[in-house]
Amino acid sequence: MEAHYDALVIGGGVIGASTAYQLSKMGYKVAILEKNQIGCEASGAAAGILGAQAEIDEEGPLLELAIRSRALFPNLVAELKEKTNIDVELIQKGLLKVATTEAEANVLQDKAERHRRWDSDVRWLSPDAASEAEPLLTPDTYGAISIPKDGQLMPAKLTHALAHGALYHQAAIYENCHVHHFIYDNKKVVGVRTSAGNFYSDQVMVSAGAWTKELVAAIHPKHLFPIKGECISLTTNQPSIQKTIFLDEGFYIVPKAGGRVVIGATKRAHDYTKHVSAEAIEFLISKAISLVPSLANASFEKAWAGLRPQTVDGWPYLGQHPELDNVYLACGHYRNGILLSAITGKIMAEQMMGEHPKHSFFTAFRLQREMEGTY
Ligand code: FAD
Ligand code: GLY
Repeated sequence: MEAHYDALVIGGGVIGASTAYQLSKMGYKVAILEKNQIGCEASGAAAGILGAQAEIDEEGPLLELAIRSRALFPNLVAELKEKTNIDVELIQKGLLKVATTEAEANVLQDKAERHRRWDSDVRWLSPDAASEAEPLLTPDTYGAISIPKDGQLMPAKLTHALAHGALYHQAAIYENCHVHHFIYDNKKVVGVRTSAGNFYSDQVMVSAGAWTKELVAAIHPKHLFPIKGECISLTTNQPSIQKTIFLDEGFYIVPKAGGRVVIGATKRAHDYTKHVSAEAIEFLISKAISLVPSLANASFEKAWAGLRPQTVDGWPYLGQHPELDNVYLACGHYRNGILLSAITGKIMAEQMMGEHPKHSFFTAFRLQREMEGTY
């Protein structure tokens, strides 16, 4: 087959779906090309924490991107619900970043102070105050940072809602469509060759997660790689925690609707497999019970793994390809692709259609930082 579009989006994860949604909403004829199914990789495996302040402590462009993205969710999810009838189950009951040792408490108190400089809702809670805020939390903590604005949602539902939102605005979605390489006319990319035929367009965005470097030679192969994460879920018909529980090391317990809790996650760099090890399950369950003892009575539901797309400096690559004018990149969102999807989709769509980024800090994420040897 052969088809022509205003824009092609390679990869149907949350980043591709969000950009396709925004482009199609702007009136452009868009196609998402996905080698398997929408949301089948990292975006379907995530816990769904919108952890702008839990995950990012340093002030700078990444925190700014995260804070701005988090703020977009209430309107975005309402808009998607109206257009697609998919409820992504946004929960805004806050997050507790818990200290399990005195040393951690010292570190977290400093972090709380830093966040308080610009967000007065952030508070340091004594161990008693942490127990009061979340009565099912073990009383044996050394305190916690309360971050009321960090919420959470169901990431697979978000990805599908964005893809369906794009369909609502007349986009096309091709699943089981593996993009093999760009098609060039002289030195200009004019389309892509795929397992389902050739697709042509003046604008191509690559958002293929941990696999983006297979299509984009400008990304150094060592500079984008997977960090596998394993998760489990438990269910309980007893009262459950209300807030997301988060540790500085990256461990978390996320309360979902209907008495489900998602517990994650391990970090295994350069591992492309998706099996879940017994060791990971043991680690996640025992850590969760040590923090929320009542989970010992919960039922095991399932375990899964996904591949976080990580860059060598931990920041995503966002923007125009350094040598190919009409090719754009949005990849490498590592632990925060769900959180960052809302703003990434908006800014990428605007850039692809010729608007200058409204936020000057956005240039910090361009791939050229790699080529210029910024790190
Ligand atoms: P992906 O979701 O991996 O999508 C890329 C897509 O591209 C895939 O569907 C793939 O099949 C497709 N593709 C690849 N190559 C090709 C090709 N050649 N042709 C066509 N299609 C192709 N983030 C948060 O914000 N909050 C969280 O709580 C959170 N928890 C996480 C927990 C775990 C266990 C994991 C693994 C990740 C978590 N993340 C979280 C991170 C988040 O999931 C990712 O950053 C995000 O999903 C990346 O989205 P993406 O669209 O770039 O990549
Ligand atoms: N942000 C949670 C994770 O990546 O596991």
